[in-house]
Amino acid sequence: MWSGVPLFPERASTMASRVDALYFFLLAVGVFFSILIAGLIVFYAVRYRRRSETAVGEVVHGATGLEVAWTVIPFVITMILFVWGASVFFAMSRPPDETINVYVVGKQWMWKFQHLDGRREIDELHVPVGRAVKLIMTSEDVIHDVFVPAFRVKADVLPGRYTEIWFEATKPGRYHLFCAEYCGAKHYGMTGQVVVMEPSEYQTWLSGGVPEGSLASAGEKLFADLACNTCHRPDAQGRGPVLDGLFGRQVQLTSGETVVADEAYLRESILNPAAKVTAGYQPIMPTFQGLVSEEQLLELIEYVKSLHPPQQEGKK
Ligand code: CUA
Repeated sequence: MWSGVPLFPERASTMASRVDALYFFLLAVGVFFSILIAGLIVFYAVRYRRRSETAVGEVVHGATGLEVAWTVIPFVITMILFVWGASVFFAMSRPPDETINVYVVGKQWMWKFQHLDGRREIDELHVPVGRAVKLIMTSEDVIHDVFVPAFRVKADVLPGRYTEIWFEATKPGRYHLFCAEYCGAKHYGMTGQVVVMEPSEYQTWLSGGVPEGSLASAGEKLFADLACNTCHRPDAQGRGPVLDGLFGRQVQLTSGETVVADEAYLRESILNPAAKVTAGYQPIMPTFQGLVSEEQLLELIEYVKSLHPPQQEGKK
């Protein structure tokens, strides 16, 4: 309906029509009540205008029917909006189990994308149509915000932590990607494109990549280069916890608390190892703050994710 209207972005993801439906409902409620109220103001101003010098308005002592109506009707409308909005919000914030994960690092003023197989791109993101894609995002400097209008997804990209969004593109094509948070002089130029491809085309694109190896294998190399493997090892010389099968598991800390080993936890444990020490270990790990870049952090995290527990060996 709106495809011909230049101000209205195309719908190219599974969420787009759900977001639009809610948006149009909000708009309709807003327009309806604006017209109703403005109309009534004019109507009553004319109808109950002062007709003579001595005219005095009638004193009204309550009108139960009216009061119930203007309480119940807005209540019902706001509850509809709340339940509807919450359901869309939950659908947007919970990615499906099976997703293609892409790491995103924002910096003044560009977008860097890292695919798990090792392909990297700048200001361009290639994804297949019909598959759920999850972006795991962080910033190297200030706050940015990733916004793909055609997918109706938008989220802040923050330094020092990971935020996630997901989408499933429904139509091949090229779509604008914007930075939607003022981030400095060239904020306006921090744009890019999402290229949605047919699955077969996408496979071709992926295999045309650089023979650098996967993100996890880059992480494995870094793990050895930084000598992480001298402590994180299963034998008697291992002074740090073994990381196999760690990702996603509950970890018991020396403080008695438990945390889930997610991306944020791994990141913190690399940059500020003393913050959350695994029970049974000494806080002897040095910090790697300043020694590894955001992209290298992602490689290390992806390497740890790829370490399955011993019985699942070989399932990298
Ligand atoms: Cu990055 Cu605005």
